[in-house]
Amino acid sequence: MNAKIRWGIVGPGKIARKFCEDLATHPDAEMVAVGSRNLARAQKFATEFNISKSYDSYDALFSDSNVEVVYIATPHRFHHELSLKAMAHGKHVLCEKPLGVNTKEVQELIESARKNKVFLMEGLWTRFNPSIEKIINDLKQQRIGTVHYVRADFAFNGMDRDLDSRLWNPELASGSLLDIGIYPIFLSYLVLGMPEKIQAMSTFHENATEIQTAMQFQYPNAMACLYSGFSSTSKMEAEISGSKGQILIQPRWHETSSYRIEEDGLETLVETPPKGGGFTEEIEEVHSCLRRQAKESEKWSLQHSLDLVTLLDSVREKVGLRFPFEV
Ligand SMILES: NC(=O)c1ccc[n+]([C@@H]2O[C@H](COP(=O)([O-])OP(=O)(O)OC[C@H]3O[C@@H](n4cnc5c(N)ncnc54)[C@H](OP(=O)(O)O)[C@@H]3O)[C@@H](O)[C@H]2O)c1
Repeated sequence: MNAKIRWGIVGPGKIARKFCEDLATHPDAEMVAVGSRNLARAQKFATEFNISKSYDSYDALFSDSNVEVVYIATPHRFHHELSLKAMAHGKHVLCEKPLGVNTKEVQELIESARKNKVFLMEGLWTRFNPSIEKIINDLKQQRIGTVHYVRADFAFNGMDRDLDSRLWNPELASGSLLDIGIYPIFLSYLVLGMPEKIQAMSTFHENATEIQTAMQFQYPNAMACLYSGFSSTSKMEAEISGSKGQILIQPRWHETSSYRIEEDGLETLVETPPKGGGFTEEIEEVHSCLRRQAKESEKWSLQHSLDLVTLLDSVREKVGLRFPFEV
């Protein structure tokens, strides 16, 4: 039997907790270390998930030779710096979305992964959602014909959050676009690829954080209407419409358990709930790549991440969104 894959957790916050709930139940995974900026926080997390080593710095975790693969779950601003450090120490990396704040950061990460000969993947969990996997297959089989329209959004009311939080602090790459707008853009990219033309508009908070963004992507024979926002909650049902039918991904579509497919007037409900809290399929992809010594996933490759951040950058350019640390 293969030895377990030995994980180190960096930034034990909200999403790290959810991720580790799934990692803890995986028979092939062992959490061997957690690193925080604060030892007490690392120790509390280690106790909760039965992790043997707690570190009071991320650097100390990167120096632990027992750690094989690192999960980076800090605010976006630090994904680039921390992934670079981890890879320089020879660690494989699964980094939360977005992989980098801009195209330059993602390019540098890809170069580093290749130079250090380590595995790198953006933690875009929706790509591994079982419904999304099935939909990709349905589209390949032309079950709804040629796709001409995609509609997707991601919105919640985050207006009451602290202005120092990662949602609202420009120093942490705040705003809806990179945090949740990345999902509708991902769906459009997954189904239709790179658009020929992008239009976008945003509203901004007085501290320069982008609050809402509406986007239209134009393709040779298709259009996508996409939206993200922090000012109100939306239903979050996504639609893919083709010449012979349509697919409705049930709310909340980015973590869905089911979708409806209508082909030639006949509607079917397809129920394919993800395992656990929704991270297991992503974890299995990392394990599968590491076992095969693959340096990137075919399902969500480094080129896919580069394309996605290129689209985010194009939208940002249209609406004039820059972070203070980028100037
Ligand atoms: N896949 C998903 O469904 C999903 C969902 C939510 C978020 N995310 C992604 O996960 C990342 C983290 O999101 P989150 O909601 O978990 O964030 P969070 O709870 O605000 O922060 C995560 C951890 O990052 C560390 N950190 C390092 N520098 C920090 C700083 N300057 N300010 C605040 N925290 C800092 C903190 O841990 P220590 O101080 O203890 O080191 C903190 O607990 C984001 O990039 C986001 O896009 C993904």
